[in-house]
Amino acid sequence: MEGVKYLPHQVRWLGHASFAISTAAGKTVLIDPWLTGNPSCPVVAAELKGPDAILVTHDHGDHLGTDIPTLVKGEGTIVAVQPEVATVLKRSGVEDRNIVNMNIGGTVAIGDLKVTMTQAAHSAAAGSPCGFVLTLEDGKTIYHAGDTGLFESMTLVGEIYHLDLALLPIGSVFTMDPLQAAVALTLLRPAKVIPMHYGTFPTLVPAADGFVRLAREKAPGVEVVVLRPGGSLSL
Ligand code: NI
Ligand code: MN
Repeated sequence: MEGVKYLPHQVRWLGHASFAISTAAGKTVLIDPWLTGNPSCPVVAAELKGPDAILVTHDHGDHLGTDIPTLVKGEGTIVAVQPEVATVLKRSGVEDRNIVNMNIGGTVAIGDLKVTMTQAAHSAAAGSPCGFVLTLEDGKTIYHAGDTGLFESMTLVGEIYHLDLALLPIGSVFTMDPLQAAVALTLLRPAKVIPMHYGTFPTLVPAADGFVRLAREKAPGVEVVVLRPGGSLSL
């Protein structure tokens, strides 16, 4: 059954900050794969085993999760993390050959994919929180902000990478709220945005409608794509 959960040429939301991306050329990427214990995740880790890349924004349990040792397969999966997070992963049984160390500002190639680590304004137990810009084989760019508050240099991320898609937290309490995320769109200027990190727990903003309204008001040129967990957007 392996691989069937990666829908071809799609960005699939697995709930919270977890995404499964499948490129036109068939490469598969998981970002913040918190699957076990994620109340809105529609799949189990075994169904997603063996992606080409796994990107982790920080070591909080709702991002690092506990599934990465299960998801990694042979030599074929590369996990891109800061060295401090790599140490945590190695303790849980992930091998050196499956890890690429990187840090904020850096870009690594994983096959034909390019992974750039960006800053985030948040906290972490090990290392520092980050976001990622993923550049696909065809040049399309996807920005996963990680957990973050609003910061003005999001403007530079938009200027440098001309984002096709931004994945932004809107849930407040631990990250940007709907208003800040709508303002973030004016800095990042992506073609499309998928809101994330809301509705998972009772403390978070429960739904995306407030963000949709504010995004239309602040950044009318950005297409807002609201997914249900398990739903996907064609690349
Ligand atoms: Ni966090
Ligand atoms: Mn979080």
